[in-house]
Amino acid sequence: MEKQKHIYLGTNTKMYKTIQDTTSFLSSLSALTADIDRKYMTLFVIPSFTTLDAARKTVPADVIRLGAQNMGWEDQGQFTGEISPLMLKEVGTQIIEIGHSERRHVLMETDEMENKKVLCALRHGFTPLLCIGETGKQKELGISAETLRIQLKVGLKDVTPQQAATQLWIAYEPVWAIGVGGTPASKEYAMEMHAVIRDTVKEMFGEEAGSAIPLLYGGSVNRENAVELAVVPNIDGLFIGRSAWDAENFNLLIRDVLKVWGYPS
Ligand code: PGA
Repeated sequence: MEKQKHIYLGTNTKMYKTIQDTTSFLSSLSALTADIDRKYMTLFVIPSFTTLDAARKTVPADVIRLGAQNMGWEDQGQFTGEISPLMLKEVGTQIIEIGHSERRHVLMETDEMENKKVLCALRHGFTPLLCIGETGKQKELGISAETLRIQLKVGLKDVTPQQAATQLWIAYEPVWAIGVGGTPASKEYAMEMHAVIRDTVKEMFGEEAGSAIPLLYGGSVNRENAVELAVVPNIDGLFIGRSAWDAENFNLLIRDVLKVWGYPS
C-alpha cells in the first residue's frame, strides 16, 4: 500500500447543468459520499454561475466545496458580462477556476489575464485553481515543459510563497486530453509533466511552499484510469469532467481512488 495522502477530487460541470440539475446532483453526491471522512478527501464541484446560490444552500461547504468557472479581476466597474469577486463571495463560493482550456482556446484568454484573476482571487481569500496545459501542437513540437513553465511563471507572477502554500491549487490538463475526442495522458506522461510543474513551483516559491501546492490532473479521467493516475507522484487529486457528472459514477470513482490509498471506502 502506498503512503496515504489527502486527495482532491472535483468536477467542473461546464455549460451543462441547470439549477435543478445542479442541486439534484449535489444532493445525490453528498448523500452517496456521506460516510467518507473529509479528512481524507476534499470534494469540490464547479457549476455554472446561476446555480451557485442554490447550490450553496443545498450542501454545506465542509461536505462539498463550490467554485466558479471564471471571475472578473476587478471588484466592480464597466465590465459587461463579467462576474465580480464580491458577487461570488456573496453566494458562498470558495474556489475560482482560472484559465480552463476552453477559456484560453475558445474565449482567447491569455496568461496575463489569468494572472490578474489569480491575484484578485487571492486578495479576496478564495482558492484560485489555475488550469494549465499544452496543446497537441505544442506536444508535437516537444515544447510541453516550456509551455507549462511559461503558463506558471506568467500566470502566478507576484504570488507570494505564503499565498502559494496556503491558498493556491493547480490543475494540469493537457488540451489534447480534454473532452469528447480527447485521449487521456498515460501515467508516464502525466508523471513527467507533474514533475515539471512541481519543480517549477519549487523554483518560484521555494521548497516548502512549492511542495505544499496541490497538483491535480485532468483530461478524460474515468473509472478505467483514475486509480493509476491518482497514485502518480506529484498528483494530489483529479479534476474530472464527463465521468463525474453522474453522481453514482463519480461516487464509484471516488471510492476506487480512496481504496487504492488505503482509506476506508
Ligand atoms: P473531461 O473534462 O474529463 O470530460 O475530459 C476535463 C476538463 O475539461 O476539466
